[in-house]
Amino acid sequence: MNASPSRLERPVLRCASDPAWLPQALARFDQVLVDHAHCEKKAAGQAISLLAGFPEKELLVQRMARLAQEEIGHFRQVYDRMLARGLSLGRDRGDPYARRLRKLVRHERDDTRLTDLLLVSALIEARSHERLQLLSEGLSDPDLAQFYAGLAQAEHGHALLFVELAATYAPEDEVVARLEVMGEAEAEIVRALPLEPRIH
Ligand SMILES: [Fe+2]
Ligand SMILES: [Fe+2]
Repeated sequence: MNASPSRLERPVLRCASDPAWLPQALARFDQVLVDHAHCEKKAAGQAISLLAGFPEKELLVQRMARLAQEEIGHFRQVYDRMLARGLSLGRDRGDPYARRLRKLVRHERDDTRLTDLLLVSALIEARSHERLQLLSEGLSDPDLAQFYAGLAQAEHGHALLFVELAATYAPEDEVVARLEVMGEAEAEIVRALPLEPRIH
C-alpha cells in the first residue's frame, strides 16, 4: 500500500444517522436482522464481483477473496441467529441506498470506475459500521450487543481496506478528493431516504 494512513483513515461519513433510526430498529429488530443478513450476502457478492471485474489486480483479488469469505461468514452467523428466532430469509427487497450510491460511479474509464466502485463499498461499509455500532449500544441482550460490537468493528476495518485499495490503484490526492464528493453525496442519500428498520 502506498497510502499514508493519516490522510486515509479519516472518518468517511459526512452525517450521522437520524437519532430516530435506533429506536425504530430496536422496536422492529427482527426486520433489521433479516435485512442485515441480506446485506452480508450482498457484501460477499460485491467482493466476488470486484475480483471478477479486475482479475489483473493481484492485491485486489487477494483482498476481495478474503473479504468474500469473511462476509459470507458474517452472513452465516446472522442467518443462524435468524433461524434461532424462527425467521426466514425471504426475498431480497432490494437496496435503494446502495442503488443510489452506485449511480455515482463514473463508467467512462476503467481506473476511475475502479476508484468509484471501491469508494462506494467504503461508504457502505462505513455506514454499516455506524449502524451496527448503534445497535450494539442499544440492544439490551448482552450476547446480541456483543455480537453487533464485533461485527461493527469488522465493517470499520472493511471501510479502511476499501479506501486503502483505492489509494493503491489511484493517486492518493484523487482518492481523498473523490471521497469528499462521494461522502457528501452519501450523506444526502441517507437524509433523503425514509427511516426504515433496516441497516441502510
Ligand atoms: Fe460484514
Ligand atoms: Fe463488510
